Amino acid sequence: MAARLWDFQFAIAEGTSTHNMPRHPRHALAARVMSRLEQLAAITSGGEEISRFFLTQEHSVAVKLISGWMSEAGLAVEVDAAGTLIGRKEGEARAAKTLLIGSHIDTVRNAERYDGCLGVVVAIEAMLELSRLGKRLPYSVEVIAFGGEEASRFPSMFIGSRALSGSLPPGVLDVTDSEGISLRTALRQFGCEPSRISETARRGTDLLGYIEVHTEQGPVLEGEGVSVGVVTMMSGVSRFCVEVRGKSGHAGTVPMQMRRDALTGAAEMLLAIENVGRSTAGLLATVGTFSIKPDSVSAVPEQADFGVDVRSPVDGVRRGGVREIDRRLRAIARLRRLSFKSTETFNEKAVACDQRLIRQLTAAAERIGVPCIGLPSGAAHDGLALSHLCPIGMLFVRCKSGVSHQAEKSVSAEDVETAIRVLLEFLAQFSPNGRSLA
Ligand code: GLV
Ligand code: MN
Ligand code: MN
Repeated sequence: MAARLWDFQFAIAEGTSTHNMPRHPRHALAARVMSRLEQLAAITSGGEEISRFFLTQEHSVAVKLISGWMSEAGLAVEVDAAGTLIGRKEGEARAAKTLLIGSHIDTVRNAERYDGCLGVVVAIEAMLELSRLGKRLPYSVEVIAFGGEEASRFPSMFIGSRALSGSLPPGVLDVTDSEGISLRTALRQFGCEPSRISETARRGTDLLGYIEVHTEQGPVLEGEGVSVGVVTMMSGVSRFCVEVRGKSGHAGTVPMQMRRDALTGAAEMLLAIENVGRSTAGLLATVGTFSIKPDSVSAVPEQADFGVDVRSPVDGVRRGGVREIDRRLRAIARLRRLSFKSTETFNEKAVACDQRLIRQLTAAAERIGVPCIGLPSGAAHDGLALSHLCPIGMLFVRCKSGVSHQAEKSVSAEDVETAIRVLLEFLAQFSPNGRSLA
């Protein structure tokens, strides 16, 4: 066992740098990853834009494509009851525990190609390279492609990862998309059995941890001039949907003093939310979705709906922010004689990444001569949900200008190659107890 790992270690470290491996042309692993990301980007409901939502036809096509790549990498493939695609490689040791490596394959509307898919495709590439080198790891690995990480179809996020970690509240099955289709129905249409969703929950005692490679979605790595960074912690997130109702009427006939305009009331609420965010250190408060009814230029709006996202690395700050926002919004609704309903759709505490995984990811980068820094994540990732189940670790990859959740984001092949090399080195030397297995 030890010799095999050392052989493998040598195979990885042989090159003078991660960008100059002797066995492959420059960026060969990344070249395949980039081409696969392009293929996934073409699976969209959005024409020129990338929009691939949870449990849709496009999601199903992506699952089929990725299943083929997983099989080619020697993984045994299945889709669980929450629509999560899992590719498993048994460890060499008997009764080996399992390391999960993954990310998500659903996207926001008009997304970029790297968010989520990068981590899945990089993990498959690492497993393919291990298989190419004829290397078995002593522990089992599952490459996971979650769906429902984004709240772009249903007003709830981390559906696949919360199901896997056993933390998905049963009520979530009743949430509906913009066409009134419930998550329960969408799962059935996708070929999953929602009544079996609780069976997807894993036992933490069978797992060694969860590792995710993801683009940074921020400007820090670029500013520091490094390709990769190891995530130290993730901010907590609260999300809620607000419904404001007033009274509709003709724009030319209802006197201004008699109006109960849901839109102008909601506009005041949006500014109040921004104000709470601006005036509270460490708090981020965002309204990213908004719609009105009847949505006609000649009608006083009767209803306004919007989605609020509140984040902080400090849970007390986030909870205090949510309370203050709620208090201000209710006060505005009262003054304007509007009805107000707020429904929480998500609530996860901030989590620290596992110290052993942080150390081993950092050590892996150092061993192969890759400069690497530690940094917190303000963005949420499936690891937040998985942290209820097992230790979590994340490797961030630099992106251009810190742009994220927008089409123009870009990640270089060189940085992707570096991330794959770091992951391979980490896998080769991974020790659940912090001691080397080799
Ligand atoms: C995840 O995509 C987030 O919104 O942070
Ligand atoms: Mn995202
Ligand atoms: Mn993501």
